[in-house]
Formats: sequence, C-alpha cells, structure tokens
Amino acid sequence: MINYEELCIKVCEISRNGGRFIQSEVSKIRYTDIETKGLNDFVTYVDKTSEQALVKSLSEILPEAGFIAEENTSDKKGEIYNWIIDPLDGTTNFIHGLPCYSISIALMKNNKIVLGVVYEINQDECFYAWEGSNAFLNNQIVKVSSISTISSSLLATGFPYYDYSKLDNYMDLFRHFLKNSHGLRRLGSAAVDLAYVACGRFEGFYEYGLRPWDVAAGAFIVQQAGGKVSDFKGGNNYIFGKELIATNSSIFNEFLELSQKYFK
Ligand code: IPD
Ligand code: CA
Ligand code: CA
Repeated sequence: MINYEELCIKVCEISRNGGRFIQSEVSKIRYTDIETKGLNDFVTYVDKTSEQALVKSLSEILPEAGFIAEENTSDKKGEIYNWIIDPLDGTTNFIHGLPCYSISIALMKNNKIVLGVVYEINQDECFYAWEGSNAFLNNQIVKVSSISTISSSLLATGFPYYDYSKLDNYMDLFRHFLKNSHGLRRLGSAAVDLAYVACGRFEGFYEYGLRPWDVAAGAFIVQQAGGKVSDFKGGNNYIFGKELIATNSSIFNEFLELSQKYFK
C-alpha cells in the first residue's frame, strides 16, 4: 500500500528543489533562449531541464509510475500510476521576469487523481493534498472561501491565447463578470489560480484551452479544500477536456449556470 501522505511530502520537497533551479535561471534568460511551440506558446531550456530533474526524482520515489509531462521528456506510461507534470506553469511570466510561476505535479491512479502539489516559486508557497486529506499551504490547513454570491467574489481567468474559436462566448461571460463581481484577475499560471481558489483568495476560476498538466494538481487541491470543479457543462471532463470552472462550494451553482448560458 502506498502511503500518499509520505509521498506527497516528498513531492513537495522535489518541487522546492525544482523551484530553486528555476529561480536561479530567471535573471539569465535571453531572448534567444525562447522557443515557440505554437501560437503564443513558449518554452525555454529552463522548462525542459526542470522537467528532466522532476522526472528523475519522481522515478526514484515511485519507480512503477509513468508520465504525462508537458515537455515530453519521458515517454514511460504507467499501468496504474502516472504523474501529470507541468515543470514551469507561467512560462510567459517567467521569461518576462514577472513573479508568478509554479511547478504543478499530480499523481493519477488509473483515472483518478490521488495527490497534488502546486509550488508557487516566488512566494515560496507550496499547496498540496493527498487522497482523503485536507488541503495545505506550507503546513497550514487551507479551505475555500465562504463568500456566497458572485457579486461579492474576486474571480480569476486565463485569457484565450491560441484557440479563438470560443472567444465571443468567453468575452460575453467576461463582460458579465466585470459588471457583476468584485473583479477579475489574470495571473498567468492556471495552477496558481487554482491554488488561490483552494485557499480562499479567489472565489472562482475559469478558462478554456487548458491542458491536463495545467489543472490536474490544482483542481484536486481545490476539491480537498472543500471547493467544486467541473467542465463548462457541469461534467467531470475537466482534466483532459480543455475547459474548467473551479469555485468555492457556495457560488458553484450560480457560476455553472452562467458558464452553461454563455458557452452553450
Ligand atoms: C499556461 C498558464 C496560463 C494559462 C495557459 C497555460 P504554461 O501554462 O497556465 O495561465 O492561461 O492556458 O498554458 O504554458 O505557462 O505552462
Ligand atoms: Ca501550463
Ligand atoms: Ca509549462
């Protein structure tokens, strides 16, 4: 039997080590280090080196697990366990020296997430949870907020940057939230957006065009903190389905009604 608590503590440590490497490179990044994977989709040697180090360390603590990792540095597939990794979430912030970026690591058992860690490097904030646990931020239990209306909520989103097919729907919902909430923030790291929902800094977050490594850990931490997560229709296809809403438990129904209305 795998002890998820012990494993999670080790993953936090691995993330902190990864964070030290990323931070040591931030002032060295040059324009010529930036490669483009797709429209507005950037990668540097820091993303790749970070992932290689994570894959190596995670292989040591759970040898049977495979990887679903953004930079594809491992093609190992696990029969039961797979790590879902974003070695640097917030690359655009990172290359511009804007201090909000993270490492995101989830462990999936068959199709279920059983452990998640989001480490926001600049604030040295490690958010984590494992199956059956509370959610934690640097050893302290965190919970989603109890604010019960969107009109009193601070919300977060990610702007569409490569798939503009639903831009009109997105802008209509955005307009609604602008007029009917405390405001919207775009931090630039979906994993951090989710971690901030988990600890009550944001009441809700939504984005489309997301990948599994952006959301697997953060969505799990939100749930363990008492929040709710779904795709735009209220279903469970939010890890591989490229769209997600995550909120505290009190505004979830109101938020879902709006996402259904504007993304129908
Ligand atoms: C991105 C960030 C961003 C979100 C994008 C992601 P990356 O990840 O999470 O906040 O809006 O959808 O792709 O490319 O920095 O790892
Ligand atoms: Ca990402
Ligand atoms: Ca990334």
